[in-house]
Amino acid sequence: MIMAEKKLNVLFIASEAAPFVKVGGLGDVAGSLPYAIAALPEGPDIRMAIPLHKAIDQTKYTLETVTSFDIAHKNGPITAEVFQTELNGLTIYLISGEPVAEADLVYTADTRADGKKFTFFSLAVLELCKQLDWQPDILHAQDWHTAPAVYALKTILKDDPFFAHTATLLTVHNLPYLGNGAGPALKAFGLKPAKKSNLPKWAQDMPLPLGLLTADKINTVSTGYAQEMLTPEFGSGLQKFLKTRKKDLVGIINGLDMDAWNPASDKAISANFTSDTLQDRGKNKRALQKELELPQDTDAPLLAFIGRMDHQKGIEIALEALRKVSDLSWQAIILGTGDPDIEARAEALAEEFPQNIRTIIRFDGALARRIYAGSDMMMVPSRYEPCGLIQMIAMRYGSVPVARATGGLRDTITDYKEKGKSTGFLFKKAKPRAMAKALRRALAVFPDRQEWEQIQIRDMAQDFTWQNSAVQYLDIYLSLLKSE
Ligand code: GLC
Repeated sequence: MIMAEKKLNVLFIASEAAPFVKVGGLGDVAGSLPYAIAALPEGPDIRMAIPLHKAIDQTKYTLETVTSFDIAHKNGPITAEVFQTELNGLTIYLISGEPVAEADLVYTADTRADGKKFTFFSLAVLELCKQLDWQPDILHAQDWHTAPAVYALKTILKDDPFFAHTATLLTVHNLPYLGNGAGPALKAFGLKPAKKSNLPKWAQDMPLPLGLLTADKINTVSTGYAQEMLTPEFGSGLQKFLKTRKKDLVGIINGLDMDAWNPASDKAISANFTSDTLQDRGKNKRALQKELELPQDTDAPLLAFIGRMDHQKGIEIALEALRKVSDLSWQAIILGTGDPDIEARAEALAEEFPQNIRTIIRFDGALARRIYAGSDMMMVPSRYEPCGLIQMIAMRYGSVPVARATGGLRDTITDYKEKGKSTGFLFKKAKPRAMAKALRRALAVFPDRQEWEQIQIRDMAQDFTWQNSAVQYLDIYLSLLKSE
């Protein structure tokens, strides 16, 4: 007799998810991946939970009250309130409570407060499953913020029959953010350090390491980064420990929302285009030069940087590299915000080269789109990059990446050396000299318009759809199913 198979229950938990709230790349992933998994032919009953951050505009969504309950804390129970909404067919739970409601920002510099907020959220998510009598087969957590849920299942809830069949997957989007300083918060909610574990002593009370210790499976967002994580340069001090988990660690590259990022229909750009109408792309370049008061020179290669100005993104490497190639003719646009020191350096360079460099210190989504559509090259000098989104968007818009060969950048870009296949220009060392060399290589090819167009056409033809990743996540879920 063939038994009707029960649908797989998956709970996807994250600290942020577009369009509700987005600070970084994790928000993009949580805003796409669960939907892509739900849309698969054998798709599970996947639901998502995020904290009801202040930054979420509650007037934009219909939030229904689901339930409320208490979470135990050493200073007395804290009430969690749960709301529910539907978006594109997906059920989303938004969880509030004093530690969430108190915080003005999604992430603050106060690691203790953040620790309390996200540990509270992680534990509330688990209690919610009980209240709903909805047993997850898979708990899929992201980064340090939701890692406490993974750890709780393997410690304080390990004998709870309700979760007897719940397996865990922890996805690492950004390894260096370990949740340092959240230890006391974990303890206050009853989650004790993992003494006598394989973890280095200093990491035994940190959320991400504890999640990595206890998750049934771990993945990160590219195969390149999955390997790099095991090395001293990228392992954040956990490389030795991570090696003990190597057989449970895989890489799955993120996708790109191909509809949200489409030069053929993007309303924010001057002229829409496809790889068949690349000549129209030039209008975007001219419009951009005009807007930013750069000389209207179509032959001058237009370089760009878009992104957070912090250590990870390596913008200082690009600033120095630009100086090193200042004997050549080009223009550059730098857009982003972040560390005030780095912002100041980017502004200083524009002052030094007023003819050809513009620095714009702000977050500006529409301008970013005009830059993707109008620039010739996108500089992505990241010191580390688990996956990276900028390079994928740039390629989709025909802006050729000049990028550091690391993590997801290395996995998504093929260097110019591989003639006939190349989609960009890569450099190995996170050093201005290495980047300047790659820039010189790119600048040397650029005047050969036919050759350059071939690279652009290959870039624009790449398939970054989320479906590819979704299939791989579903495979992991299925491999983790515990027998009933
Ligand atoms: C983090 C990583 C970035 C990745 C994103 C989504 O922001 O730094 O490389 O693309 O997470 O996974």
